[in-house]
Amino acid sequence: MSITIKTAEDIAGMRLACRLASEVLDYIAPHIKPGITTKEIDRLGAECMAAQGTISATVGYQPPGYPPYPGSLCTSVNHVVCHGIPNDKPLKKGDIVNVDVTVITKDGWYGDNSRMYLIGECSIAAKRLSAITYDAMWLGIQQVRPGAHLGDIGHAIQKFAEGHGFSVVREFCGHGIGQKFHEEPQVLHYGRPGTLEELKPGMVFTIEPMINAGRREIKEFGNDGWTIVTKDHSLSAQWEHTVLVTETGYEVMTLSAGSPPLPPFVTATTT
Ligand code: MF3
Ligand code: CO
Ligand code: CO
Repeated sequence: MSITIKTAEDIAGMRLACRLASEVLDYIAPHIKPGITTKEIDRLGAECMAAQGTISATVGYQPPGYPPYPGSLCTSVNHVVCHGIPNDKPLKKGDIVNVDVTVITKDGWYGDNSRMYLIGECSIAAKRLSAITYDAMWLGIQQVRPGAHLGDIGHAIQKFAEGHGFSVVREFCGHGIGQKFHEEPQVLHYGRPGTLEELKPGMVFTIEPMINAGRREIKEFGNDGWTIVTKDHSLSAQWEHTVLVTETGYEVMTLSAGSPPLPPFVTATTT
């Protein structure tokens, strides 16, 4: 197996899938406030996908050794690192939640993205964690260009996150994506410059750092087979975009009208 290089036609398919994935997050955004349950968020996501004519990549998703994933999307609240399963507990003021959406279009292309949402007024620490994680993702994205290496992305993210006193989760990473949910390569969110695979035009992968306020160690939560939490119970944040390597740099594919503003140090979503 190797990293697929997307053709112009493939890229058109990916652009659509990615925009639609982002529009699912736009659709649910106004509803995310104190009192909503993550199951209701899941239902809204499913409703939006049905209207789009996409299907969720996560419902029934079952990698080896896992039970089938039950949700149309993932909702990871507070110390949940990733893969949180939507449930009936209402969100309350001060919670932070990552909503991670992956859709499949009629043509079989996958778009994968996630955002953080702050529930009502949140602590300074929670706001800072989400903001630093967002900037870390963008610093990783800004490394993307032909000739750069995957290690450059991981290094940029790690240096920034650790420089702010946070830690980078090691066990989960970004991934190639296309007509499969998870393709090569693995995109680690830590590493050394100049190491690992060299980037080439036409590669498409996600950058999705999981950053913990405390220690980087994680553990499985309960016995649902999916939910991952921080071992020290500290808060965890994550943002995710799907990114294309262009001839001259990058194109962030998972953008839509409701995408959050770019960090001040980012001047373009396509370079
Ligand atoms: N969307 C997640 C990712 O970024 C994967 C979720 S798998 C699930 O790779 F089964 F938990 F939904
Ligand atoms: Co992903
Ligand atoms: Co995702």
